[in-house]
Amino acid sequence: MPHGHKFDPSMRGHLLDPKRTRYLPPRAILAKFPITSGIVAVDIGCGPGYWTIPMAEIVGPSGRVYAVDIEEEMLAELRAGLADRPGLNVQVFRSMEDRIPLPPKSVDFAFLACVLHELDGPGTLREAARVLRPAGSLGVVEWKKMRQLEGPPYRHRLSVRQAREALDRGGFTAGDPFEAGPYHYAVVARLKTG
Ligand SMILES: C[S@@+](CC[C@H](N)C(=O)[O-])C[C@H]1O[C@@H](n2cnc3c(N)ncnc32)[C@H](O)[C@@H]1O
Repeated sequence: MPHGHKFDPSMRGHLLDPKRTRYLPPRAILAKFPITSGIVAVDIGCGPGYWTIPMAEIVGPSGRVYAVDIEEEMLAELRAGLADRPGLNVQVFRSMEDRIPLPPKSVDFAFLACVLHELDGPGTLREAARVLRPAGSLGVVEWKKMRQLEGPPYRHRLSVRQAREALDRGGFTAGDPFEAGPYHYAVVARLKTG
């Protein structure tokens, strides 16, 4: 069932629509984040795996990607996609708003693409902070606060300032925003110190 500002899982096909790659090319955008061969990453709100699969290609066999989502339908679609890609090191888990099922300090990079505006409070970001290693970072891709037919309604979108405030409440200090295609901005955030 669709609920509030969360993405309706029955619409998951849109997330893998090839036309999305025209305005949000995953490899080119992932290249702007600190993702390298051998790291451990978590794709939070992975959906059917639009970013998970290219991320797993980048981290390679010596790295690992954990893919988590609160919606089982999304995870089932991702598992089906992974069945054709046996060489990729991806582990898929169901998460909850306030629980990412990973040990503390277990990942180098956490990623939230088109998810920050769907979060209900700071619980998921605090979990991201918990599972990140101290030198790790969080990458965010979000819809620009603009009116357009594609994507979430204007009222659900976060300005850069609102995104920074949400990150701050979740335990992160956001760096400067940068472009991620015509409709999205991106931010790399670090764990707050002290
Ligand atoms: C708009 S979709 C984006 C999916 C994927 N990141 C992408 O860009 O293709 C948002 C996803 O975040 C998931 N989600 C929403 N809130 C979440 C949370 N607190 N923790 C984990 N996943 C969440 C939704 O179930 C949905 O799959």
